Amino acid sequence: MKVKEAISKRRSIRKYSNQQVLDDVVKEIIQAGIWAPSGLNNQPWKFIVIKEQQHKQKLAQFTKYGGIIINAPVCVCVFLDKAKSYDRDKDVMAVGACIQNMLLCAHELGIGTCWMGEILNKKDAVGEYLRIDRGFELMAVISMGYPLKEVLRSSRRKLESFFLSV
Ligand SMILES: Cc1cc2nc3c(=O)[nH]c(=O)nc-3n(C[C@H](O)[C@H](O)[C@H](O)COP(=O)(O)O)c2cc1C
Repeated sequence: MKVKEAISKRRSIRKYSNQQVLDDVVKEIIQAGIWAPSGLNNQPWKFIVIKEQQHKQKLAQFTKYGGIIINAPVCVCVFLDKAKSYDRDKDVMAVGACIQNMLLCAHELGIGTCWMGEILNKKDAVGEYLRIDRGFELMAVISMGYPLKEVLRSSRRKLESFFLSV
């Protein structure tokens, strides 16, 4: 798949079939994530892969979008590794690039994802539940699975509307 096609055809997928996502496929997706650029190449990311129903049920309680988590065969929690961090703004951006790489790679592999951010309102509680050291800060949960249906539409405002004039 061409990069431009992956960028424009990727959609947030919130309903998944029962088909499991193989561990190697999840690893391939995370591998794409870690090839993202980062300031000083500090690679300030960490991941937890969650597949167990009991953990998904619990994680779901921390966001109003919990239904997506419960329905997804796999969720990947993405953390900022504060020990690797040298500039918060840049490091958060790098983690965003890492996440986008993962979404695009997943799309190419036929796997739907949803980048879930609302859960960050309860990121400390999520960290406590997962018994994560406070040196790791939750940046997103990415739900993953084979899309239930071929869907979806999305839109963007017109390109011209994003330019500032000086
Ligand atoms: C930082 C961020 C946070 C998001 N948080 C959520 C979320 O908590 N729940 C959700 O269903 N979608 C979430 N999304 C997905 C957006 O709603 C989605 O990307 C947007 O509506 C555009 O749709 P598209 O991804 O299909 O193009 C998030 C996306 C980003 C980038």
